[in-house]
Amino acid sequence: MTGLNTSSVGGESTGLQGDITALGEKPSQEFALFFKAWLRQGRKISAATPSSYFLSKEVCSVVDWDKPGTIIELGAGTGPITEYVLKNLRPHHKFVSIERDKGFFDVLKRRFPNAPLIHGDATDLDKTLAGLGIDKADYVLSGLPTPSLPAESFDRLKRWMDRNVFDHGGVFSQLTVVPLYFWPFYRRHFLDVKYKFIGLNLPPGGVYKCRGVRQDSLIAN
Ligand SMILES: C[S@@+](CC[C@H](N)C(=O)[O-])C[C@H]1O[C@@H](n2cnc3c(N)ncnc32)[C@H](O)[C@@H]1O
Repeated sequence: MTGLNTSSVGGESTGLQGDITALGEKPSQEFALFFKAWLRQGRKISAATPSSYFLSKEVCSVVDWDKPGTIIELGAGTGPITEYVLKNLRPHHKFVSIERDKGFFDVLKRRFPNAPLIHGDATDLDKTLAGLGIDKADYVLSGLPTPSLPAESFDRLKRWMDRNVFDHGGVFSQLTVVPLYFWPFYRRHFLDVKYKFIGLNLPPGGVYKCRGVRQDSLIAN
């Protein structure tokens, strides 16, 4: 597994808060990097700017910080949600953050050198989390361009969450930068969907909180 600081996956001691103050990237550099990646990769990135503090906070609002739990972040980008999680993480949590783009992953490593970061495919969690002792999650925080994912990748992710997240009441919290437009999409794939609009983001966005996979949305084997 590339780039994983396994010593911090277990959640015994986060010790991460100090790193947040030593961020390598200036916000303007972070925006420029994000914008360039978006110009290059378009739908694979989906947003042209990193999420605001307010959008990140809403994505994380599903987490009960007072209770033990496992948090997985999918598609961390330059890390606004990662930062919010790390600031609130307690020793009773397990946390891991996954990003596929090497440029973004390098930024994440510089920003959060002690964080449990994985350079890999967030839609192939059996493989990406193999050997880390994480086979269940309570909170899946996603910045993935989910509606643009290849159908097989999204199907694999839904099946993983069906077995390992929704089976015990976990939740999939997904950001969007196209308010409400994808409501029918999420309703087609998940049993219970709640949406919250967040105006304080560039562009305005929102968060879908989804529970339970619609079995009739799965691709037949
Ligand atoms: C809209 S950006 C969100 C970035 C960040 N979470 C934020 O809120 O600013 C989507 C991110 O998902 C990443 N991504 C897309 N497909 C992925 C995949 N299959 N596995 C891991 N990361 C992926 C992209 O590289 C990009 O960093």
